[in-house]
Amino acid sequence: MAEAVEIVEVGPRDGLQNQARIIPTDRKVALVDALSEAGFQRIEVASFVSPRWVPQMADGAEVLVGIGRRPGTRYMALAPNLKGYEAARADGADEVAVVTAASEGFARANLNATVAETLDRIATILDMAHRDEMPVRGYVSVVTDCPYDGEVAPASVARVSAALRDLGCHEVSLGETLGRGTPERVDAMLRAVLEELPPERLAGHFHDTSGRALENVEVALGHGLRVFDSSVGGLGGCPFAPGAAGNVATEALAERLATLGYETALDREALARATALARSLREG
Ligand code: HMG
Ligand code: MG
Repeated sequence: MAEAVEIVEVGPRDGLQNQARIIPTDRKVALVDALSEAGFQRIEVASFVSPRWVPQMADGAEVLVGIGRRPGTRYMALAPNLKGYEAARADGADEVAVVTAASEGFARANLNATVAETLDRIATILDMAHRDEMPVRGYVSVVTDCPYDGEVAPASVARVSAALRDLGCHEVSLGETLGRGTPERVDAMLRAVLEELPPERLAGHFHDTSGRALENVEVALGHGLRVFDSSVGGLGGCPFAPGAAGNVATEALAERLATLGYETALDREALARATALARSLREG
């Protein structure tokens, strides 16, 4: 039997947060519903962040409440602090994603905090989440390159990943935010992180600015990672990482994984419908 790989669909959050124009809530809900039909185990549907920082995500509550719930799919929301966590929980998130960075420059630009301060916020969230029995995934941004501080040392990524594990994140998603990491540097980064966490606790999150995201996925597969984030239609980027393109496109990732002999358990026709919808959102 083919080995399973989970694709975590992050387009409605990581993709739509970076659209120049604000997408109406009902179109976001329609996109999530189309993605649910494709059979993802997890879809990141919203973020509960400052609406002044990211106005594109200001309707997270309406999205979470408006979507249909497919049994077997967990609907995830990103929260940078306790305020965001409490809102995500109140509106029915099944899982929360917290975020920090492997560089000080990116932590400051993205979260207005030092890395240590972001970890303090995350500790507060994890305390509450533990009591709520809410699963929490941790993102580490800029795992190879930071737009402000330049190349990021693999040891920094390993240190921050270990901190997220120690705080209680069940999984650490390694964010190659800029999409400039070469397979060689992704390999070096993964070797360092794998000294701290086993591959079952890691996810790969590759943006595709340089068109090398699929190669980087293959490097991570070689190290035993079996969870990858992607955005339907290749939507997105990060508003605080100038020039970064969207995540690797879900449909391209699914195809590559199938070619490599992995099973993603996605419905290809439903995914094609969601991809068409995502492209229509990107084009206006
Ligand atoms: P701050 O300005 O330092 O926050 O921002 P503050 O605590 O001083 O609050 C300022 C205002 O924001 C207050 O409102 C708060 O109530 C409000 P005011 O009283 O002035 O009207 N506020 C909130 N409102 C709603 N929800 C909240 C919330 N928190 C505060 N949760 C803060 C600090 C963290 C809030 C800000 O920097 C922020 O929102 N950052 C998020 C930026 C973001 O969403 N970035 C993109 C997601 S991360 C990403 O894309 C990377 C990833 O994909 C992996 C990768 O590719 O690397 C995950
Ligand atoms: Mg991202």
